[in-house]
Amino acid sequence: MGLSFYYAFLVYITAVSAAVGSSFAGSTSTALFPPANATITATDTFFPNASQVGHGGPTPTGDEAAAIATAPAVALVDNVFPLVKPATSDKKPGFDILQHLGNLSPFQSVKSLGLPDASARVPDGCKITQVHLLHRHGARYPTGGSSFAAALHTAATSTGFNTSGPLAFLSTWTYKLGEQTLTPFGRAEMFNLGVGFRVKYGDLLKKATDLPVFRTTSEERMVDSALNFAAGFFGVQSYKDDYHQLIEIDDELGKLNSTLAPWNCPVFHSRVAGFGSAQALKWANIYLVSARERLSPSIQGLVLDIKQLIDMQTLCAYETVALGYSAFCGLFTEEEWKGYEYYVDLHFWYGFGPGAPYASAMGLGWVQELISRLTQTRITNFDSTPVTFPFGQPIYVDATHEIVVSQILTALNFTTLAANGPLPTDRIPPNQTWFANQLVPFGTNLVGQVLSCPASDTPTHIRWILNDAVLHRGIKQRIAEINFEFDCFGNYTTPNPDNIIDGRYPQSAHLM
Ligand SMILES: *[C@@H]1O[C@H](CO)[C@@H](O)[C@H](O)[C@H]1NC(C)=O
Ligand SMILES: *[C@@H]1O[C@H](CO)[C@@H](O)[C@H](O)[C@H]1NC(C)=O
Ligand SMILES: *[C@@H]1O[C@H](CO)[C@@H](O)[C@H](O)[C@H]1NC(C)=O
Ligand SMILES: *[C@@H]1O[C@H](CO)[C@@H](O)[C@H](O)[C@H]1NC(C)=O
Ligand SMILES: *[C@@H]1O[C@H](CO)[C@@H](O)[C@H](O)[C@H]1NC(C)=O
Ligand SMILES: *[C@@H]1O[C@H](CO)[C@@H](O)[C@H](O)[C@H]1NC(C)=O
Ligand SMILES: *[C@@H]1O[C@H](CO)[C@@H](O)[C@H](O)[C@H]1NC(C)=O
Repeated sequence: MGLSFYYAFLVYITAVSAAVGSSFAGSTSTALFPPANATITATDTFFPNASQVGHGGPTPTGDEAAAIATAPAVALVDNVFPLVKPATSDKKPGFDILQHLGNLSPFQSVKSLGLPDASARVPDGCKITQVHLLHRHGARYPTGGSSFAAALHTAATSTGFNTSGPLAFLSTWTYKLGEQTLTPFGRAEMFNLGVGFRVKYGDLLKKATDLPVFRTTSEERMVDSALNFAAGFFGVQSYKDDYHQLIEIDDELGKLNSTLAPWNCPVFHSRVAGFGSAQALKWANIYLVSARERLSPSIQGLVLDIKQLIDMQTLCAYETVALGYSAFCGLFTEEEWKGYEYYVDLHFWYGFGPGAPYASAMGLGWVQELISRLTQTRITNFDSTPVTFPFGQPIYVDATHEIVVSQILTALNFTTLAANGPLPTDRIPPNQTWFANQLVPFGTNLVGQVLSCPASDTPTHIRWILNDAVLHRGIKQRIAEINFEFDCFGNYTTPNPDNIIDGRYPQSAHLM
């Protein structure tokens, strides 16, 4: 018995090392499970389900929770289990790389967004009457491949390459990432978001007169995120029966209108939209110079350029949320990780935030829907919204992309986030207020609490909580300010970035 177990173990080891030996640095691998051509060897009749087995034990359900009003404090998400936190190359204690990965940061609660003393807890004397949740999907694979992996692969298959020191691991490294879909950790982020939302706001379900409709978009990671949220919120045994899942078509060319995938904005597909990455690249050409000098001597056969170094930092983020750990993280210093975070901040500010002339216009559709739900007035103007959408519910849940969260935050005019004006591309400013890791990490969530103060059934306030931190107010008359036709359909070139801080084309230009 003991011997045969030992033998099986040996066989397993041999198989794995053979697989490693047959691949080479920079090569890619494909999914290993389920095995190709797996055949079912046992029929379902061998596996009766729970109701057939019976003996389920007692099943009385408890009352709904309302922790956002009943608990003295709000629980925060402050760990990233099962990811392993990497150390920087300069081994700075107390510095957490995973909080400096911009939009690729694993979800963690934000301590404060300009209102350090405010709590997300429902204020004493108020009652919550409705809640709106807008959230991003969980951690995913990259949306494209890796340019660094491709370059390494080319080197390996042509001249060959040699590595040493910090880059020695590359001689056996292979690219293991898929594309776009949710990672197992991303699944957990969504399930936990659903559980957390039920514990905080579940009591509102008692006000439902029908099954709620939650929305997402059609991309696989979006549907997967919505289902994992629902599984956490309702429980896997019943979630399919407890709500309706509405799926808006996510048409990346913008041929269809969707408020959760508002790509129907021609300017967004023009050269104007490349401005965000161009601004970010200016900064990368500064903050990564010393990393290039330090790492280049450790590889022969591949000349490292700045874009590849950005890609190596990005691989740290993606490998960590997909594989649990990445050797790329430890190649860079604390300063370089702060530099990377700022690189992403620039990309979002100028590409999808206050510095993008079409950002507010693209967030407008969802804001119009919000106003419609708050005022209980069905939308009659369909310029930027679909014809059907959930209405009259105590709980709304909309899943979207981080780009859209950024655009909606901009459309809602949370001016504290944009307080210190356009971000410089040659340095990190001392009093920055726009941080991608706080605003758009994986699983980012914006909660609108509709409150009645003093407590009654008539709503009097809406309060916004982003990733568990309270935001300064956004404003309703904002809709009238946003010129969707011009900002999305105008034939303009990139405006002077110094003049844009609220995600609209500079206003003096409209008057011309
Ligand atoms: C799976 O089946 C296909 C078609 O029969 C065959 O070409 C392929 O080699 C099989 N793959 C494996 C891993 O057996
Ligand atoms: C259990 O299996 C029976 C027989 O196949 C089926 O009728 C029933 O719907 C199943 N119940 C659940 C909860 O899947
Ligand atoms: C790698 O090292 C080997 C052995 O020293 C050498 O022959 C080869 O030219 C080196 N390759 C590159 C790309 O430097
Ligand atoms: C989508 O939005 C555009 C731009 O506002 C509008 O012209 C068009 O009629 C809308 N299409 C649909 C199908 O609602
Ligand atoms: C931000 O910091 C810069 C440099 O210290 C300073 O000149 C500027 O006035 C500050 N802005 C605000 C709004 O505090
Ligand atoms: C939106 O923000 C801008 C910039 O801070 C401000 O000038 C404008 O008054 C705000 N709009 C509304 C409706 O509050
Ligand atoms: C947009 O403006 C440019 C420069 O003014 C002009 O050459 C081009 O024809 C315009 N395109 C459209 C579609 O109006």
